[in-house]
Amino acid sequence: MKYKRHTVTAALPYANGPVHIGHLAGCYLPADIYVRYLRSKGEDVKFICGSDEHGVPITIKAKKEGITPQQVVDKYHKIMGDAFREFGISFDIYSRTSSKIHHETASEFFKTLYDKGVFEEEITEQYFDEKANQFLADRYIIGTCPKCGNENAYGDQCENCGSTLNATDLINPKSTLSGEKPVLKKTKNWFLPLDKMQPQIEAYIDSHKDWKANVYGQCKSWLNAGLQPRAMTRDLDWGVKVPVDGAEGKVLYVWFDAPIGYISATKELFSNPKSEIRNPKSSDWELYWKDKETKLVHFIGKDNIVFHCIIFPAMLMAEGSYIVPENVPANEFLNLEGDKISTSRNWAVWLHEYLLEFKDKQDVLRYTLCANAPETKDNDFTWKDFQAKNNNELVAILGNFVNRTLVLTHKYYDGNVPTAAEYSKNDILLLEEITKYPAKIAASIEQYRFREALSELMNLARSGNKYLADNEPWKLINTDANRVKTIMNISLQICANLTIVMEPFLPFTAKKLGTMLNLNLGLKWNDATRTDLLLAGHKINTASLLFEKVEDEQMEYQVTKLSNSKMENELANNKSEVTPQKPEITFDDFSKMDIRVGTILEAERVPKTDKLLKLKIDTGIDIRTVVSGIAQYYKPEDIIGQQVSILVNLAPRMLKNIESRGMILCSENEKGELSFVSPTKPNTNSGSIIK
Ligand code: 2FM
Ligand code: ZN
Repeated sequence: MKYKRHTVTAALPYANGPVHIGHLAGCYLPADIYVRYLRSKGEDVKFICGSDEHGVPITIKAKKEGITPQQVVDKYHKIMGDAFREFGISFDIYSRTSSKIHHETASEFFKTLYDKGVFEEEITEQYFDEKANQFLADRYIIGTCPKCGNENAYGDQCENCGSTLNATDLINPKSTLSGEKPVLKKTKNWFLPLDKMQPQIEAYIDSHKDWKANVYGQCKSWLNAGLQPRAMTRDLDWGVKVPVDGAEGKVLYVWFDAPIGYISATKELFSNPKSEIRNPKSSDWELYWKDKETKLVHFIGKDNIVFHCIIFPAMLMAEGSYIVPENVPANEFLNLEGDKISTSRNWAVWLHEYLLEFKDKQDVLRYTLCANAPETKDNDFTWKDFQAKNNNELVAILGNFVNRTLVLTHKYYDGNVPTAAEYSKNDILLLEEITKYPAKIAASIEQYRFREALSELMNLARSGNKYLADNEPWKLINTDANRVKTIMNISLQICANLTIVMEPFLPFTAKKLGTMLNLNLGLKWNDATRTDLLLAGHKINTASLLFEKVEDEQMEYQVTKLSNSKMENELANNKSEVTPQKPEITFDDFSKMDIRVGTILEAERVPKTDKLLKLKIDTGIDIRTVVSGIAQYYKPEDIIGQQVSILVNLAPRMLKNIESRGMILCSENEKGELSFVSPTKPNTNSGSIIK
């Protein structure tokens, strides 16, 4: 079907940290390539994004930094927006979900579903942290994933296996606020009855067998497991307030409000008088969301699949007046130097830092990330590969071809495009080949195969490079100047065509090359099928290098930076396991404790307990009973005769009806296992003082 217009979205990133290369390769770069291509085709397209400013990741970050959630999102919204812009991600709007228009839109959307009776209102038991006095939604809780056993799965999702979870599914749940085991407490929430909508959603997914295998497969496995009702509200205070009576202290689930962010950002785009859209009509946003002739495409990372392919479409279907996504081309994950990218471990290449350290080299990163995009499986980014792609491909193929062509044009013809004389058989074959590239590249882009498209683009540059190398105009110039004119004319046409087809991938280079060729700015994608874009006599501008070699020292700096961050991280981790020193005491305080060497004479388990042993100890003063919590670490029969340290003047305590007179000193390792602190010389007398 031919569409009248396109709405293209890229996942709204959480405003709790800067953008890294994993984000770029996952969705922003492919989305940008796709949109730039559509624009070049002359299509009507709006590219929508913004910051996801609600949800637990934001409030956790605020707590950690001791600032308010609003301060967190203000800070990162700016950092992310600036970095995207500088990197050439050409959103038509980069909005934010803390905006008024978003709160109104999300609230209205919820209210519409509520009024239609879509939600099921249910009182359920949710985890509650008694120490922090709050419910533990989503990322406030971690535990073991019931599907893959990952011990750090979140209350809403396991990042290891990608499963979407309910907090109550977790095994051994733990509050991320206090570390305590949470209790269950009753609360009311509104559920989207996905179970009842299963047939509708199944039909929708089944009508999209054309989706990428990873996306379609994940949807099918969800459907096969049977959809479950999902709460669309949360007991939290940061977010869009639930707009119905009896919902005080509750906000919309972040995965309910965030995708509506695409809609509110589109509204904002059309209502902004400063918008680049000429005379925006505020109601025009609806064309991009409600007209059947609009193609809606969501670019996301694989951890967002279920939300965009099942939950958001279900919301749109339930509302009734919206179109649903036509495609959701999700990428897998990008790793960095063989390890998973992680914000908390600072294992990442941050975009804002790259932009500072590699000035005007946006396209090198765009190229590397696209050439290596994790389109069908997880992939790895390495600085070595970055350097190789720059030096061996961008510099040696594309840059070299363009540079030789332009330099020779200046040298032989003072920068004027020469007239082609007679074409040879090979020239004609090459010209035919050239005209096919735009369609080949377009076909790959339209199927979301950006790596393949990029490699075709490089094949065009390779053809040009080979043409020059085979024909050696620099030698022919002395013997057949007429032939050189044809060779240079054809090479210049290839440069012009390259300018057009490279634009979606390498927009900065395309601009630079367009300026050097003094190319008509209004050229569109289909113009790249022509072989006469530069007419004879057309004057080109001064040439400069498109790409420069990346030196080993630059790479060493980056690799060292990463290993430093790994080291700092390990240090920080070790530090956090060391219990902080207790407040200072005097020697008098210490000498109040009477610690002696004791010898274990008898040991037996305390019935009906797992942890306790009843010990008879010779303290040198007397023989007394001590109850000690060491049963998991020592068998009674193994410790008879063992010498231990015992605090003998501790006030007696009743443990399981046994009077315990004293305490055995133990050390505790990082796993919580206990072991006796004993004299290192055997047969120290019982009663020897420890001081
Ligand atoms: O995974 C994330 O970073 C989410 N903030 C993506 C949201 S996409 C959309 F629904 F807004
Ligand atoms: Zn899992």
